[in-house]
Amino acid sequence: MARCIIQVGVLFALIAQAAGDNLLLVQAIWRHGDRSPTTTFPTDVNTEDKWPQGWGQLTTLGMQQHYALGSRLRTMYGDFISSTYKAEEIYVRSTDIDRTLMSAMSNLAGFYQNGTVDVDFPDTTNVPNWPASWSPIPVHTVDYETDLIGYPFAECARADQLYEEIQQSPSYLNVSAENQALFDWLTNVTGVTDPVTLDNLWLVYDALTIEKIHNMSLPSWYNDTIYNQTVVANDYADDFLFGIVQPPVCELIKLRGGSLLKAITDRMTAKVTCMHNASSSSDCTALNKLKYYVYSAHDVTLAGLLATFGDKEEVVVEGGLPKYAAAIVLELWNVSNVAQVRIMYHPEFNESFYPITNLTKGCNLTSDYYNSCNKYNVNNYHPAKYDNNDYYYDNYDDTFNNHNAFSHHPAKYGNDVIFNKYNYTYYNNCNNHQFDSDII
Ligand SMILES: *[C@@H]1O[C@H](CO)[C@@H](O)[C@H](O)[C@H]1NC(C)=O
Ligand SMILES: *[C@@H]1O[C@H](CO)[C@@H](O)[C@H](O)[C@H]1NC(C)=O
Ligand SMILES: *[C@@H]1O[C@H](CO)[C@@H](O)[C@H](O)[C@H]1NC(C)=O
Ligand SMILES: *[C@@H]1O[C@H](CO)[C@@H](O)[C@H](O)[C@H]1NC(C)=O
Ligand SMILES: *[C@@H]1O[C@H](CO)[C@@H](O)[C@H](O)[C@H]1NC(C)=O
Ligand SMILES: *[C@@H]1O[C@H](CO)[C@@H](O)[C@H](O)[C@H]1NC(C)=O
Ligand SMILES: *[C@@H]1O[C@H](CO)[C@@H](O)[C@H](O)[C@H]1NC(C)=O
Ligand SMILES: *[C@@H]1O[C@H](CO)[C@@H](O)[C@H](O)[C@H]1NC(C)=O
Ligand SMILES: *[C@@H]1O[C@H](CO)[C@@H](O)[C@H](O)[C@H]1NC(C)=O
Ligand SMILES: *[C@@H]1O[C@H](CO)[C@@H](O)[C@H](O)[C@H]1NC(C)=O
Ligand SMILES: *[C@@H]1O[C@H](CO)[C@@H](O)[C@H](O)[C@H]1NC(C)=O
Ligand SMILES: *[C@@H]1O[C@H](CO)[C@@H](O)[C@H](O)[C@H]1NC(C)=O
Repeated sequence: MARCIIQVGVLFALIAQAAGDNLLLVQAIWRHGDRSPTTTFPTDVNTEDKWPQGWGQLTTLGMQQHYALGSRLRTMYGDFISSTYKAEEIYVRSTDIDRTLMSAMSNLAGFYQNGTVDVDFPDTTNVPNWPASWSPIPVHTVDYETDLIGYPFAECARADQLYEEIQQSPSYLNVSAENQALFDWLTNVTGVTDPVTLDNLWLVYDALTIEKIHNMSLPSWYNDTIYNQTVVANDYADDFLFGIVQPPVCELIKLRGGSLLKAITDRMTAKVTCMHNASSSSDCTALNKLKYYVYSAHDVTLAGLLATFGDKEEVVVEGGLPKYAAAIVLELWNVSNVAQVRIMYHPEFNESFYPITNLTKGCNLTSDYYNSCNKYNVNNYHPAKYDNNDYYYDNYDDTFNNHNAFSHHPAKYGNDVIFNKYNYTYYNNCNNHQFDSDII
Protein backbone atom coordinates (compact mmCIF):
# COMPACT_ATOMS: atom_id res chain seq x y z
CA MET A 1 0.00 0.00 0.00
CA ALA A 2 2.98 2.27 0.35
CA ARG A 3 3.33 4.99 -2.20
CA CYS A 4 6.57 6.40 -3.42
CA ILE A 5 6.38 9.87 -4.80
CA ILE A 6 9.94 10.92 -4.26
CA GLN A 7 10.64 11.33 -7.94
CA VAL A 8 7.54 13.26 -8.75
CA GLY A 9 7.51 15.38 -5.66
CA VAL A 10 4.04 16.88 -5.76
CA LEU A 11 0.74 15.60 -4.57
CA PHE A 12 -1.05 16.00 -7.82
CA ALA A 13 1.24 13.54 -9.49
CA LEU A 14 0.20 10.97 -6.94
CA ILE A 15 -3.43 11.64 -7.64
CA ALA A 16 -2.72 11.32 -11.31
CA GLN A 17 -0.93 8.04 -10.74
CA ALA A 18 -3.73 6.47 -8.78
CA ALA A 19 -7.01 8.07 -9.61
CA GLY A 20 -8.85 6.38 -6.76
CA ASP A 21 -6.63 7.79 -4.01
CA ASN A 22 -8.01 10.84 -2.38
CA LEU A 23 -7.25 13.21 0.43
CA LEU A 24 -9.70 13.10 3.29
CA LEU A 25 -8.36 15.68 5.70
CA VAL A 26 -5.50 18.14 6.00
CA GLN A 27 -4.44 19.29 9.46
CA ALA A 28 -1.91 22.11 9.68
CA ILE A 29 -0.02 23.43 12.67
CA TRP A 30 1.95 26.58 12.03
CA ARG A 31 4.09 29.02 13.93
CA HIS A 32 3.26 32.72 13.75
CA GLY A 33 5.39 34.99 11.55
CA ASP A 34 8.14 37.45 12.41
CA ARG A 35 7.52 39.25 15.70
CA SER A 36 9.08 41.78 18.00
CA PRO A 37 10.92 40.39 21.03
CA THR A 38 8.63 39.45 23.90
CA THR A 39 10.89 41.47 26.21
CA THR A 40 14.55 42.37 26.46
CA PHE A 41 17.41 42.80 28.94
CA PRO A 42 17.88 46.01 30.91
CA THR A 43 20.92 47.39 29.05
CA ASP A 44 19.34 46.95 25.62
CA VAL A 45 18.99 50.25 23.75
CA ASN A 46 16.17 48.71 21.69
CA THR A 47 13.40 49.36 24.16
CA GLU A 48 9.74 48.54 23.70
CA ASP A 49 8.91 51.87 22.07
CA LYS A 50 11.18 50.93 19.13
CA TRP A 51 8.47 48.48 18.04
CA PRO A 52 5.23 49.84 16.54
CA GLN A 53 3.00 47.61 18.67
CA GLY A 54 5.37 46.90 21.55
CA TRP A 55 6.57 43.50 22.69
CA GLY A 56 5.64 40.18 21.17
CA GLN A 57 3.64 41.48 18.23
CA LEU A 58 3.47 40.33 14.64
CA THR A 59 5.44 42.64 12.33
CA THR A 60 4.57 43.51 8.76
CA LEU A 61 7.30 41.05 7.76
CA GLY A 62 5.44 38.41 9.76
CA MET A 63 2.20 39.21 7.94
CA GLN A 64 4.02 38.86 4.63
CA GLN A 65 5.46 35.50 5.68
CA HIS A 66 2.03 34.14 6.53
CA TYR A 67 0.42 35.48 3.41
CA ALA A 68 3.15 33.59 1.54
CA LEU A 69 2.46 30.40 3.52
CA GLY A 70 -1.27 30.73 2.85
CA SER A 71 -0.57 31.07 -0.88
CA ARG A 72 1.73 28.05 -0.75
CA LEU A 73 -0.92 25.94 0.99
CA ARG A 74 -3.45 27.07 -1.59
CA THR A 75 -1.15 25.78 -4.33
CA MET A 76 -0.72 22.47 -2.51
CA TYR A 77 -4.37 21.87 -1.73
CA GLY A 78 -6.06 23.79 -4.52
CA ASP A 79 -7.82 20.71 -5.87
CA PHE A 80 -8.99 19.60 -2.46
CA ILE A 81 -10.04 22.64 -0.44
CA SER A 82 -12.36 25.04 -2.25
CA SER A 83 -10.65 28.18 -3.49
CA THR A 84 -13.37 30.30 -1.92
CA TYR A 85 -14.41 30.10 1.70
CA LYS A 86 -16.82 27.27 2.55
CA ALA A 87 -17.66 27.34 6.24
CA GLU A 88 -18.16 23.59 6.48
CA GLU A 89 -14.70 22.74 5.06
CA ILE A 90 -12.41 24.67 7.34
CA TYR A 91 -11.88 25.29 11.03
CA VAL A 92 -9.09 27.53 12.30
CA ARG A 93 -8.12 27.46 15.95
CA SER A 94 -5.53 29.93 17.15
CA THR A 95 -3.97 30.34 20.55
CA ASP A 96 -5.31 33.47 22.20
CA ILE A 97 -2.25 35.58 21.48
CA ASP A 98 -2.27 38.60 19.16
CA ARG A 99 0.53 37.34 16.91
CA THR A 100 -0.98 33.90 16.29
CA LEU A 101 -4.46 35.36 15.68
CA MET A 102 -3.01 37.92 13.27
CA SER A 103 -0.85 35.29 11.57
CA ALA A 104 -3.93 33.15 10.96
CA MET A 105 -5.73 36.11 9.42
CA SER A 106 -2.73 36.98 7.22
CA ASN A 107 -2.39 33.34 6.16
CA LEU A 108 -6.07 33.06 5.26
CA ALA A 109 -5.82 36.24 3.21
CA GLY A 110 -3.24 34.37 1.11
CA PHE A 111 -5.23 31.15 1.11
CA TYR A 112 -8.51 32.67 -0.09
CA GLN A 113 -7.66 35.12 -2.83
CA ASN A 114 -10.44 34.03 -5.12
CA GLY A 115 -13.53 35.30 -3.35
CA THR A 116 -16.58 36.45 -5.25
CA VAL A 117 -18.16 39.84 -4.87
CA ASP A 118 -21.50 39.69 -3.06
CA VAL A 119 -20.85 36.11 -2.00
CA ASP A 120 -17.62 36.29 -0.01
CA PHE A 121 -17.38 40.04 0.52
CA PRO A 122 -19.48 43.13 -0.22
CA ASP A 123 -19.69 44.94 -3.49
CA THR A 124 -17.28 47.84 -3.73
CA THR A 125 -20.07 50.16 -4.78
CA ASN A 126 -21.37 49.72 -1.25
CA VAL A 127 -17.97 49.58 0.44
CA PRO A 128 -15.52 51.35 -1.86
CA ASN A 129 -12.46 50.74 0.29
CA TRP A 130 -12.99 47.05 1.00
CA PRO A 131 -9.53 45.42 0.59
CA ALA A 132 -9.23 43.85 -2.85
CA SER A 133 -10.39 40.20 -2.91
CA TRP A 134 -10.26 39.90 0.87
CA SER A 135 -12.74 37.49 2.46
CA PRO A 136 -13.03 37.60 6.24
CA ILE A 137 -12.50 34.09 7.64
CA PRO A 138 -13.35 33.10 11.23
CA VAL A 139 -10.46 32.35 13.56
CA HIS A 140 -11.50 30.60 16.77
CA THR A 141 -9.61 30.62 20.03
CA VAL A 142 -9.67 29.35 23.61
CA ASP A 143 -8.27 30.69 26.86
CA TYR A 144 -4.49 30.71 26.64
CA GLU A 145 -3.59 29.69 30.16
CA THR A 146 -5.55 26.45 29.93
CA ASP A 147 -4.90 25.80 26.23
CA LEU A 148 -3.04 22.53 26.67
CA ILE A 149 -3.45 21.77 22.98
CA GLY A 150 -2.00 24.98 21.59
CA TYR A 151 0.39 25.97 24.35
CA PRO A 152 2.76 23.30 25.74
CA PHE A 153 3.51 25.45 28.78
CA ALA A 154 -0.06 25.90 29.91
CA GLU A 155 -0.28 25.37 33.63
CA CYS A 156 0.52 21.78 34.55
CA ALA A 157 2.10 21.06 37.90
CA ARG A 158 3.28 17.62 36.85
CA ALA A 159 5.17 19.08 33.90
CA ASP A 160 6.80 21.61 36.23
CA GLN A 161 7.79 18.81 38.56
CA LEU A 162 9.35 16.79 35.75
CA TYR A 163 11.22 19.82 34.46
CA GLU A 164 12.61 20.44 37.94
CA GLU A 165 13.95 16.91 37.85
CA ILE A 166 15.59 17.60 34.51
CA GLN A 167 17.28 20.62 36.04
CA GLN A 168 18.99 18.20 38.42
CA SER A 169 20.02 15.77 35.69
CA PRO A 170 23.69 15.20 34.79
CA SER A 171 23.12 16.46 31.23
CA TYR A 172 21.54 19.69 32.37
CA LEU A 173 24.18 20.28 35.02
CA ASN A 174 26.90 19.54 32.50
CA VAL A 175 25.63 22.00 29.92
CA SER A 176 25.16 24.59 32.64
CA ALA A 177 28.67 24.08 33.97
CA GLU A 178 30.23 24.25 30.54
CA ASN A 179 28.51 27.57 29.86
CA GLN A 180 28.84 29.14 33.28
CA ALA A 181 31.52 31.61 32.15
CA LEU A 182 29.26 32.75 29.30
CA PHE A 183 26.31 33.12 31.68
CA ASP A 184 28.37 35.14 34.17
CA TRP A 185 29.63 37.36 31.42
CA LEU A 186 26.14 37.88 30.00
CA THR A 187 24.74 38.58 33.46
CA ASN A 188 27.15 41.45 33.75
CA VAL A 189 26.73 43.02 30.32
CA THR A 190 22.97 42.64 30.09
CA GLY A 191 22.30 44.12 33.51
CA VAL A 192 19.73 41.48 34.41
CA THR A 193 18.68 41.22 38.05
CA ASP A 194 18.45 37.44 38.15
CA PRO A 195 21.66 35.85 36.86
CA VAL A 196 21.58 34.42 33.34
CA THR A 197 21.08 30.65 33.44
CA LEU A 198 20.14 27.95 30.98
CA ASP A 199 16.50 28.68 31.89
CA ASN A 200 16.38 32.37 31.07
CA LEU A 201 19.06 32.53 28.38
CA TRP A 202 16.30 32.55 25.76
CA LEU A 203 15.60 36.16 26.67
CA VAL A 204 19.06 37.28 25.52
CA TYR A 205 19.04 34.91 22.56
CA ASP A 206 15.58 36.03 21.42
CA ALA A 207 16.28 39.76 21.63
CA LEU A 208 19.64 39.53 19.82
CA THR A 209 18.28 37.24 17.11
CA ILE A 210 15.35 39.51 16.35
CA GLU A 211 17.38 42.70 16.46
CA LYS A 212 19.76 41.13 13.93
CA ILE A 213 16.84 40.27 11.63
CA HIS A 214 15.61 43.86 11.87
CA ASN A 215 19.03 45.44 11.39
CA MET A 216 18.78 47.21 14.74
CA SER A 217 21.75 48.44 16.70
CA LEU A 218 23.39 45.64 18.64
CA PRO A 219 25.09 46.09 22.02
CA SER A 220 28.71 47.25 21.98
CA TRP A 221 29.71 43.90 23.52
CA TYR A 222 28.06 41.89 20.76
CA ASN A 223 30.19 39.69 18.53
CA ASP A 224 29.46 36.56 16.53
CA THR A 225 31.43 34.34 18.87
CA ILE A 226 29.31 35.35 21.85
CA TYR A 227 26.14 35.07 19.79
CA ASN A 228 27.03 31.61 18.51
CA GLN A 229 27.77 30.37 22.02
CA THR A 230 24.39 31.69 23.09
CA VAL A 231 22.70 29.88 20.20
CA VAL A 232 24.34 26.56 21.05
CA ALA A 233 23.53 26.76 24.77
CA ASN A 234 19.98 27.85 24.00
CA ASP A 235 19.48 24.86 21.69
CA TYR A 236 20.25 22.59 24.63
CA ALA A 237 17.88 24.57 26.83
CA ASP A 238 15.08 24.05 24.29
CA ASP A 239 15.59 20.30 24.22
CA PHE A 240 15.54 20.11 28.01
CA LEU A 241 12.22 21.94 28.07
CA PHE A 242 10.70 19.17 25.98
CA GLY A 243 12.17 16.28 27.93
CA ILE A 244 14.84 15.56 25.35
CA VAL A 245 17.66 14.78 27.72
CA GLN A 246 19.63 11.73 28.74
CA PRO A 247 17.88 9.75 30.00
CA PRO A 248 14.82 11.04 28.15
CA VAL A 249 11.74 11.99 30.12
CA CYS A 250 8.98 10.31 28.15
CA GLU A 251 6.24 11.61 30.36
CA LEU A 252 7.31 15.21 29.85
CA ILE A 253 7.43 14.68 26.10
CA LYS A 254 3.89 13.45 26.40
CA LEU A 255 2.77 16.36 28.56
CA ARG A 256 4.23 18.95 26.19
CA GLY A 257 2.97 17.54 22.90
CA GLY A 258 0.55 14.75 23.74
CA SER A 259 -2.62 16.80 23.86
CA LEU A 260 -2.08 18.15 20.39
CA LEU A 261 -1.14 14.72 19.06
CA LYS A 262 -4.27 13.30 20.65
CA ALA A 263 -6.50 15.99 19.19
CA ILE A 264 -5.04 15.41 15.74
CA THR A 265 -5.21 11.63 15.86
CA ASP A 266 -8.71 11.63 17.36
CA ARG A 267 -9.88 13.73 14.48
CA MET A 268 -8.25 11.39 11.98
CA THR A 269 -9.76 8.37 13.71
CA ALA A 270 -13.19 9.93 13.67
CA LYS A 271 -12.80 10.82 10.01
CA VAL A 272 -11.78 7.25 9.17
CA THR A 273 -14.65 5.83 11.17
CA CYS A 274 -17.03 8.02 9.23
CA MET A 275 -15.40 6.94 5.99
CA HIS A 276 -16.09 3.31 6.77
CA ASN A 277 -19.48 3.89 8.26
CA ALA A 278 -21.07 7.06 7.00
CA SER A 279 -24.12 6.66 9.14
CA SER A 280 -22.29 5.81 12.37
CA SER A 281 -23.14 9.02 14.13
CA SER A 282 -24.48 12.48 13.66
CA ASP A 283 -20.93 13.80 14.09
CA CYS A 284 -20.17 12.37 10.68
CA THR A 285 -22.45 14.90 9.03
CA ALA A 286 -20.03 17.66 9.95
CA LEU A 287 -16.86 15.56 9.82
CA ASN A 288 -17.50 14.28 6.34
CA LYS A 289 -17.47 17.86 5.10
CA LEU A 290 -14.46 18.96 7.10
CA LYS A 291 -11.33 19.16 4.93
CA TYR A 292 -8.96 21.53 6.66
CA TYR A 293 -8.25 22.01 10.35
CA VAL A 294 -5.64 24.53 11.44
CA TYR A 295 -3.82 25.30 14.65
CA SER A 296 -2.19 28.73 14.57
CA ALA A 297 0.37 28.52 17.31
CA HIS A 298 3.96 28.83 18.46
CA ASP A 299 7.45 27.46 17.94
CA VAL A 300 7.00 25.50 21.16
CA THR A 301 3.76 23.99 19.87
CA LEU A 302 5.51 22.61 16.81
CA ALA A 303 8.51 21.51 18.87
CA GLY A 304 6.27 19.65 21.31
CA LEU A 305 4.54 17.79 18.51
CA LEU A 306 7.80 16.96 16.76
CA ALA A 307 9.13 15.63 20.07
CA THR A 308 6.22 13.19 20.24
CA PHE A 309 7.13 12.06 16.73
CA GLY A 310 10.71 11.58 17.95
CA ASP A 311 12.16 13.75 15.22
CA LYS A 312 12.56 17.24 16.64
CA GLU A 313 16.32 17.08 16.54
CA GLU A 314 16.38 15.93 12.95
CA VAL A 315 13.75 18.29 11.64
CA VAL A 316 14.76 21.44 13.46
CA VAL A 317 18.40 21.37 12.51
CA GLU A 318 19.47 24.67 14.01
CA GLY A 319 18.07 27.28 16.31
CA GLY A 320 16.47 24.89 18.77
CA LEU A 321 12.91 25.73 17.79
CA PRO A 322 11.02 25.99 14.50
CA LYS A 323 11.39 29.29 12.66
CA TYR A 324 8.80 31.89 11.74
CA ALA A 325 5.91 30.50 9.72
CA ALA A 326 7.29 26.97 10.06
CA ALA A 327 4.49 24.43 9.64
CA ILE A 328 3.65 20.78 10.03
CA VAL A 329 0.92 19.33 7.87
CA LEU A 330 -0.68 15.94 8.51
CA GLU A 331 -2.54 14.61 5.54
CA LEU A 332 -5.03 11.79 5.88
CA TRP A 333 -5.45 9.86 2.64
CA ASN A 334 -7.89 7.26 1.45
CA VAL A 335 -5.81 4.86 -0.59
CA SER A 336 -8.15 2.19 -1.99
CA ASN A 337 -10.26 2.41 1.12
CA VAL A 338 -7.28 2.16 3.47
CA ALA A 339 -6.40 5.25 5.45
CA GLN A 340 -2.82 6.45 5.30
CA VAL A 341 -1.03 9.42 6.74
CA ARG A 342 1.62 11.63 5.29
CA ILE A 343 3.42 14.21 7.40
CA MET A 344 5.02 17.27 5.80
CA TYR A 345 7.31 19.92 7.26
CA HIS A 346 7.79 23.52 6.18
CA PRO A 347 11.00 24.87 7.76
CA GLU A 348 10.35 28.58 7.22
CA PHE A 349 8.28 30.97 5.16
CA ASN A 350 10.35 30.86 1.99
CA GLU A 351 10.99 27.11 1.87
CA SER A 352 9.06 24.18 0.45
CA PHE A 353 7.22 21.50 2.35
CA TYR A 354 8.93 18.13 2.42
CA PRO A 355 7.77 14.80 3.83
CA ILE A 356 8.96 13.81 7.30
CA THR A 357 6.84 10.70 7.63
CA ASN A 358 9.91 8.50 7.49
CA LEU A 359 11.50 10.40 10.38
CA THR A 360 8.55 9.77 12.58
CA LYS A 361 8.48 7.28 15.36
CA GLY A 362 6.48 4.22 14.51
CA CYS A 363 6.61 4.67 10.80
CA ASN A 364 7.53 1.44 9.16
CA LEU A 365 9.48 0.20 12.14
CA THR A 366 10.46 -3.39 12.54
CA SER A 367 11.19 -3.21 16.23
CA ASP A 368 8.77 -2.37 18.94
CA TYR A 369 9.40 0.62 21.14
CA TYR A 370 6.15 0.26 22.87
CA ASN A 371 7.39 0.37 26.45
CA SER A 372 10.55 2.31 26.12
CA CYS A 373 11.70 5.58 24.84
CA ASN A 374 15.02 4.53 23.37
CA LYS A 375 14.67 6.79 20.44
CA TYR A 376 15.08 9.82 22.61
CA ASN A 377 18.59 8.71 23.41
CA VAL A 378 20.43 11.16 21.23
CA ASN A 379 23.31 8.77 20.75
CA ASN A 380 21.06 6.09 19.43
CA TYR A 381 18.46 7.93 17.50
CA HIS A 382 16.11 5.93 15.32
CA PRO A 383 17.92 2.63 15.40
CA ALA A 384 15.73 0.82 12.93
CA LYS A 385 13.43 3.41 11.80
CA TYR A 386 11.94 3.21 8.41
CA ASP A 387 12.01 2.20 4.87
CA ASN A 388 13.66 4.64 2.51
CA ASN A 389 10.89 5.59 0.26
CA ASP A 390 7.76 5.13 2.23
CA TYR A 391 6.04 8.41 2.86
CA TYR A 392 2.92 7.01 4.32
CA TYR A 393 2.17 5.06 7.37
CA ASP A 394 0.92 1.73 6.28
CA ASN A 395 -2.21 0.43 7.79
CA TYR A 396 -3.35 3.56 9.46
CA ASP A 397 -6.83 2.47 10.18
CA ASP A 398 -9.33 2.43 12.93
CA THR A 399 -7.92 -0.71 14.43
CA PHE A 400 -4.62 1.02 15.25
CA ASN A 401 -2.91 -2.33 15.23
CA ASN A 402 -0.05 -1.96 12.92
CA HIS A 403 2.97 0.11 12.29
CA ASN A 404 1.58 3.52 12.61
CA ALA A 405 3.10 6.21 14.76
CA PHE A 406 0.13 6.51 16.94
CA SER A 407 -0.22 2.95 18.03
CA HIS A 408 3.39 2.50 19.01
CA HIS A 409 3.27 4.70 22.04
CA PRO A 410 -0.18 4.61 23.52
CA ALA A 411 1.28 5.51 26.87
CA LYS A 412 2.33 8.82 25.41
CA TYR A 413 -1.10 10.14 24.88
CA GLY A 414 -3.55 7.62 26.21
CA ASN A 415 -5.09 8.58 29.50
CA ASP A 416 -4.63 5.19 31.02
CA VAL A 417 -1.04 4.32 31.73
CA ILE A 418 0.52 7.51 32.95
CA PHE A 419 -2.26 9.11 34.82
CA ASN A 420 -3.01 6.15 36.98
CA LYS A 421 0.55 5.88 38.07
CA TYR A 422 0.87 9.13 39.91
CA ASN A 423 -0.89 11.09 42.53
CA TYR A 424 -3.93 12.63 40.91
CA THR A 425 -4.15 15.40 43.48
CA TYR A 426 -0.79 16.71 42.53
CA TYR A 427 -1.51 17.39 38.89
CA ASN A 428 -5.19 17.66 39.01
CA ASN A 429 -5.29 20.35 36.35
CA CYS A 430 -3.39 18.20 33.85
CA ASN A 431 -5.84 15.46 34.34
CA ASN A 432 -8.75 17.75 33.71
CA HIS A 433 -7.44 19.49 30.68
CA GLN A 434 -4.61 17.59 29.16
CA PHE A 435 -6.64 15.43 26.89
CA ASP A 436 -9.34 17.80 25.97
CA SER A 437 -9.95 17.02 22.40
CA ASP A 438 -11.66 19.13 19.84
CA ILE A 439 -12.88 16.92 17.06
CA ILE A 440 -14.53 19.72 15.14
C1 LIG B 1 -9.28 31.09 -8.78
O1 LIG B 1 -10.32 30.56 -9.55
C2 LIG B 1 -9.95 30.30 -10.90
C3 LIG B 1 -11.21 29.89 -11.67
O2 LIG B 1 -11.96 29.02 -10.92
C4 LIG B 1 -8.89 29.22 -10.92
O3 LIG B 1 -8.46 28.97 -12.23
C5 LIG B 1 -7.70 29.70 -10.11
O4 LIG B 1 -6.74 28.68 -10.00
C6 LIG B 1 -8.14 30.10 -8.71
N1 LIG B 1 -7.03 30.71 -8.02
C7 LIG B 1 -6.75 30.44 -6.75
C8 LIG B 1 -5.59 31.16 -6.16
O5 LIG B 1 -7.40 29.66 -6.09
C1 LIG C 1 30.00 17.03 29.74
O1 LIG C 1 29.80 16.23 28.61
C2 LIG C 1 30.93 16.14 27.76
C3 LIG C 1 30.55 15.33 26.55
O2 LIG C 1 29.29 15.61 26.14
C4 LIG C 1 32.05 15.52 28.49
O3 LIG C 1 33.18 15.52 27.64
C5 LIG C 1 32.33 16.29 29.75
O4 LIG C 1 33.30 15.63 30.49
C6 LIG C 1 31.10 16.46 30.57
N1 LIG C 1 31.39 17.36 31.65
C7 LIG C 1 31.01 17.10 32.88
C8 LIG C 1 31.33 18.17 33.87
O5 LIG C 1 30.43 16.08 33.18
C1 LIG D 1 31.15 43.97 33.38
O1 LIG D 1 30.87 44.64 32.16
C2 LIG D 1 31.50 45.89 32.04
C3 LIG D 1 31.06 46.49 30.72
O2 LIG D 1 29.70 46.45 30.60
C4 LIG D 1 33.00 45.72 32.09
O3 LIG D 1 33.62 46.97 32.06
C5 LIG D 1 33.40 44.95 33.34
O4 LIG D 1 34.76 44.63 33.30
C6 LIG D 1 32.60 43.68 33.47
N1 LIG D 1 32.93 43.01 34.70
C7 LIG D 1 33.15 41.71 34.77
C8 LIG D 1 33.42 41.17 36.12
O5 LIG D 1 33.12 41.01 33.76
C1 LIG E 1 18.07 44.15 6.90
O1 LIG E 1 19.06 44.51 5.96
C2 LIG E 1 19.16 43.60 4.87
C3 LIG E 1 20.35 44.01 4.03
O2 LIG E 1 20.27 45.36 3.72
C4 LIG E 1 17.85 43.64 4.08
O3 LIG E 1 17.92 42.73 3.01
C5 LIG E 1 16.72 43.25 5.00
O4 LIG E 1 15.48 43.34 4.32
C6 LIG E 1 16.69 44.10 6.24
N1 LIG E 1 15.72 43.54 7.16
C7 LIG E 1 14.63 44.19 7.56
C8 LIG E 1 13.70 43.45 8.46
O5 LIG E 1 14.36 45.31 7.21
C1 LIG F 1 33.93 38.42 21.48
O1 LIG F 1 33.70 38.98 22.75
C2 LIG F 1 34.31 38.26 23.81
C3 LIG F 1 33.89 38.93 25.10
O2 LIG F 1 34.19 40.29 25.07
C4 LIG F 1 35.81 38.27 23.66
O3 LIG F 1 36.39 37.50 24.68
C5 LIG F 1 36.17 37.67 22.32
O4 LIG F 1 37.55 37.79 22.11
C6 LIG F 1 35.41 38.37 21.22
N1 LIG F 1 35.62 37.62 20.00
C7 LIG F 1 35.88 38.20 18.85
C8 LIG F 1 36.11 37.32 17.68
O5 LIG F 1 35.94 39.42 18.76
C1 LIG G 1 28.72 31.63 13.90
O1 LIG G 1 27.83 30.66 13.37
C2 LIG G 1 27.59 30.84 11.99
C3 LIG G 1 26.50 29.88 11.61
O2 LIG G 1 26.79 28.61 12.06
C4 LIG G 1 28.88 30.64 11.23
O3 LIG G 1 28.64 30.82 9.85
C5 LIG G 1 29.89 31.64 11.72
O4 LIG G 1 31.14 31.38 11.10
C6 LIG G 1 30.07 31.56 13.22
N1 LIG G 1 30.92 32.66 13.63
C7 LIG G 1 31.78 32.55 14.61
C8 LIG G 1 32.62 33.76 14.88
O5 LIG G 1 31.92 31.55 15.27
C1 LIG H 1 -21.92 1.73 11.92
O1 LIG H 1 -22.68 2.56 12.79
C2 LIG H 1 -23.78 1.91 13.37
C3 LIG H 1 -24.58 2.96 14.14
O2 LIG H 1 -23.76 3.67 15.04
C4 LIG H 1 -23.26 0.80 14.27
O3 LIG H 1 -24.34 0.09 14.85
C5 LIG H 1 -22.43 -0.16 13.41
O4 LIG H 1 -21.84 -1.13 14.24
C6 LIG H 1 -21.31 0.60 12.70
N1 LIG H 1 -20.61 -0.30 11.79
C7 LIG H 1 -19.30 -0.35 11.71
C8 LIG H 1 -18.73 -1.28 10.69
O5 LIG H 1 -18.57 0.35 12.40
C1 LIG I 1 -12.16 5.75 -0.49
O1 LIG I 1 -11.58 5.12 -1.61
C2 LIG I 1 -12.43 4.15 -2.20
C3 LIG I 1 -11.64 3.41 -3.25
O2 LIG I 1 -10.80 4.27 -3.96
C4 LIG I 1 -13.66 4.83 -2.75
O3 LIG I 1 -14.51 3.87 -3.32
C5 LIG I 1 -14.38 5.54 -1.60
O4 LIG I 1 -15.46 6.27 -2.08
C6 LIG I 1 -13.45 6.48 -0.88
N1 LIG I 1 -14.11 7.00 0.29
C7 LIG I 1 -13.99 8.25 0.69
C8 LIG I 1 -14.78 8.65 1.89
O5 LIG I 1 -13.26 9.04 0.14
C1 LIG J 1 15.00 31.80 3.32
O1 LIG J 1 15.36 32.96 4.03
C2 LIG J 1 16.47 32.77 4.91
C3 LIG J 1 16.69 34.07 5.62
O2 LIG J 1 15.59 34.36 6.42
C4 LIG J 1 17.69 32.36 4.13
O3 LIG J 1 18.74 32.09 5.03
C5 LIG J 1 17.36 31.10 3.34
O4 LIG J 1 18.45 30.78 2.52
C6 LIG J 1 16.14 31.32 2.46
N1 LIG J 1 15.78 30.08 1.82
C7 LIG J 1 15.43 30.01 0.54
C8 LIG J 1 15.06 28.67 0.02
O5 LIG J 1 15.40 30.99 -0.18
C1 LIG K 1 7.85 -0.70 5.03
O1 LIG K 1 7.49 -0.29 3.75
C2 LIG K 1 7.87 -1.21 2.73
C3 LIG K 1 7.51 -0.66 1.38
O2 LIG K 1 7.77 0.70 1.31
C4 LIG K 1 7.17 -2.53 2.95
O3 LIG K 1 7.63 -3.47 2.01
C5 LIG K 1 7.47 -3.04 4.34
O4 LIG K 1 6.72 -4.18 4.60
C6 LIG K 1 7.13 -1.99 5.38
N1 LIG K 1 7.53 -2.44 6.69
C7 LIG K 1 6.67 -2.52 7.70
C8 LIG K 1 7.21 -3.03 8.97
O5 LIG K 1 5.52 -2.14 7.60
C1 LIG L 1 13.04 10.21 4.06
O1 LIG L 1 12.26 10.85 3.09
C2 LIG L 1 12.86 12.00 2.56
C3 LIG L 1 11.87 12.69 1.68
O2 LIG L 1 11.66 11.97 0.54
C4 LIG L 1 14.12 11.60 1.82
O3 LIG L 1 14.75 12.75 1.26
C5 LIG L 1 15.05 10.95 2.77
O4 LIG L 1 16.17 10.48 2.09
C6 LIG L 1 14.37 9.78 3.48
N1 LIG L 1 15.27 9.35 4.53
C7 LIG L 1 15.77 8.12 4.55
C8 LIG L 1 16.72 7.83 5.66
O5 LIG L 1 15.44 7.30 3.76
C1 LIG M 1 -0.89 13.48 46.87
O1 LIG M 1 -0.37 14.77 46.78
C2 LIG M 1 -0.91 15.66 47.74
C3 LIG M 1 -0.39 17.06 47.43
O2 LIG M 1 0.97 17.04 47.22
C4 LIG M 1 -0.52 15.15 49.14
O3 LIG M 1 -1.08 15.99 50.12
C5 LIG M 1 -1.05 13.74 49.33
O4 LIG M 1 -0.62 13.22 50.54
C6 LIG M 1 -0.58 12.84 48.22
N1 LIG M 1 -1.25 11.54 48.31
C7 LIG M 1 -0.58 10.41 48.17
C8 LIG M 1 -1.42 9.16 48.27
O5 LIG M 1 0.61 10.33 47.97
